[in-house]
Amino acid sequence: MLNLGILISGRGSNMESILKSIKTKKIPINPAIVISNKIDAKGLAIAKKMGVNVEVIESKNFKGTRSEFDEKIMEILVKYGVTPRNGLVCLAGFMRIISPEFVKKYKNKIINIHPALLPAFPGLNSQKQALDYGAKYSGCTVHFVDAGMDTGAIIIQSIVEIKNKDTEKSLSKKILKEEHRIYPQAVSLFARKKIKVLGRKTIIS
Ligand code: GAR
Repeated sequence: MLNLGILISGRGSNMESILKSIKTKKIPINPAIVISNKIDAKGLAIAKKMGVNVEVIESKNFKGTRSEFDEKIMEILVKYGVTPRNGLVCLAGFMRIISPEFVKKYKNKIINIHPALLPAFPGLNSQKQALDYGAKYSGCTVHFVDAGMDTGAIIIQSIVEIKNKDTEKSLSKKILKEEHRIYPQAVSLFARKKIKVLGRKTIIS
């Protein structure tokens, strides 16, 4: 069975949806470690309560470079068996850009959830971007992480309709509901080795 590492920065609701699916045996993967770059991330308490190991490497006062920070993350991942060969890394609201070294070492082993239909509205505040643009639909995307910003091969997407009365809050809520549905699905596909990556396309079997 593969070992899973989840990286968070805050609330951790996507992390929780994945961990719940593992607990109910919907995903055949070992939840090895949750790592946060913030000491006050709410998700840490949730992970602990669910019996999962947690570690914190604070990015706020970190003196080194981005690569050095990610080196520390990789050390912890390896310590818990989340290796490029035997592991999967899920970014779940991890609000940091990953170094090229990390991406290279864990090629096609890091996945992320983004609250928009990529390639539309990458980066921050995607729900607000969609509203400001006047889009009629938005949604969420689970994708592999490559060297770009939200540019890696897409695994699953889900669509939500944007109504006239939607606010950033209501749209975020609708999208989050879909995030909690498709992220565990994507992890399950990966754990069952059902995802093949061909260039920037994925083939799901
Ligand atoms: C989620 O909406 C996720 O899609 C988003 O942050 C939120 C984290 O919530 N991620 C990004 O915007 C990454 N660019 P959570 O901590 O409750 O899972």
